[in-house]
Amino acid sequence: MTRTSYACFIALLLFAWAVIPAPAQAAGNCGLILNSKCTLCHNLNRICRKLGEKDKLYWQKTIKRMVKQHSAPLNNDEQKELALCLYNKTESVKNACK
Ligand code: HEC
Repeated sequence: MTRTSYACFIALLLFAWAVIPAPAQAAGNCGLILNSKCTLCHNLNRICRKLGEKDKLYWQKTIKRMVKQHSAPLNNDEQKELALCLYNKTESVKNACK
């Protein structure tokens, strides 16, 4: 292998490592996020009783407020994912709210 092709190979590996696992890990995490991160300051009742009542914007804004004002520890991907889950009332959300 020449030096350049070796460098390309390493770059490709790093790229794959950085890109591939992220979406796979993010999928289906909502129940986990709710139980581990949204119960740090209040219980899930506060969230669960609003399911099916609120629009997508409400959830996006509320989650942003939890993060910005109250320092809830969610990264950007988690915020987006959770807002969609809460709005769509996915299975993992329903289970967390049982
Ligand atoms: C660091 C503390 C903290 C964490 C973590 C936290 N919250 Fe909150 N949450 C609060 C406080 C304080 C309030 C009441 C004041 C307010 O509404 O901003 C609240 C209120 C709420 C409300 C009611 C708002 C309303 O319209 O009456 C919802 C819904 C909510 N949180 C959702 C969440 C979700 C979803 C998460 C997880 C992403 C979360 N919270 C994590 C502190 C937190």
